Amino acid sequence: MRVKKAVITAAGWGMRFLPITKSQPKEMLPLVDKPLIQYSVEEAIACGIELIIIVTAQSKRAIEDYFDRSPELERALEQKGETGLLEKVRHLCNMVDICYVRQKEQLGLGHAVLTAKRMVGDEPFILFLPDDLFEQRETVVKNMVDICQNYQGSVVAVKRVDESEVSRYGIIQPDKVSERIFKVTDLLEKPHPSEAPSNLAIMGRYVLMPEVFAMLEKTPPGRNGEIQLTDALKRLLQQHPVYAYEFEGERYDAGTPVGWLETTLALALKNPDIGPGLREYLYTLLKTSAHPFRENPSG
Ligand code: G1P
Repeated sequence: MRVKKAVITAAGWGMRFLPITKSQPKEMLPLVDKPLIQYSVEEAIACGIELIIIVTAQSKRAIEDYFDRSPELERALEQKGETGLLEKVRHLCNMVDICYVRQKEQLGLGHAVLTAKRMVGDEPFILFLPDDLFEQRETVVKNMVDICQNYQGSVVAVKRVDESEVSRYGIIQPDKVSERIFKVTDLLEKPHPSEAPSNLAIMGRYVLMPEVFAMLEKTPPGRNGEIQLTDALKRLLQQHPVYAYEFEGERYDAGTPVGWLETTLALALKNPDIGPGLREYLYTLLKTSAHPFRENPSG
């Protein structure tokens, strides 16, 4: 059973980034040297995905344009002899087949995934929530696909979080199968810490069996009045097994302004071209501004 399709959800309002996201999709915000969504696209390609389905919405046209050809720009770069840039620009539209489907009403993550049903068809697929980035990049999803194939079930990526953070995530009730692999026996979307069945939180990568669509169709609005993928998975596990993979390494959340800034810094510091210079700049910045402020707040 090969996994050949991926779904990337990119239909949200990006409310936390308003007013920037009034006319600019959140998924097109730059992270060091490319837009946020390109990290998920590249991860999918590295996993051998042949077709990417991006779920978009109104005012997300910039995503389609970005992965499309731009004949005028290409001509201009050609005339200027900018062959390096020309190659970069052309590469974007030749990476992989991408198709788009619009979520017409923003009714939640579960509803966004359901929008891709016809394009996915009757086969397993990888779901990427592009705000979430992983230090280990595609290794996380590759391992999840292996688990899906070995155990014949859906797989979610999980990470242990502090008790104070469980209400921000889907939380699983785990039954340990082997090192880093759990069978999911229950799951709750954004529970109160007193109700959380564990501190294993779902992070934005899923390998899903197509049966999830039938469950999504039956799932009523849940937490925050939205159709929640977590609720559909809770139904799914009554008929088909769902596993969790506790991945290694960091996970970054670029979905809030502060998280975006932290992710940018973490990725930039790891980048061999700009990391060393940035480190020095940050060091000087901290020495000259933050410290004196703390020592003498009045000025
Ligand atoms: C979504 C899911 C949640 C998951 C989280 C990971 O929530 O509903 O189960 O833990 O992504 O980032 P959101 O962040 O869209 O509110």
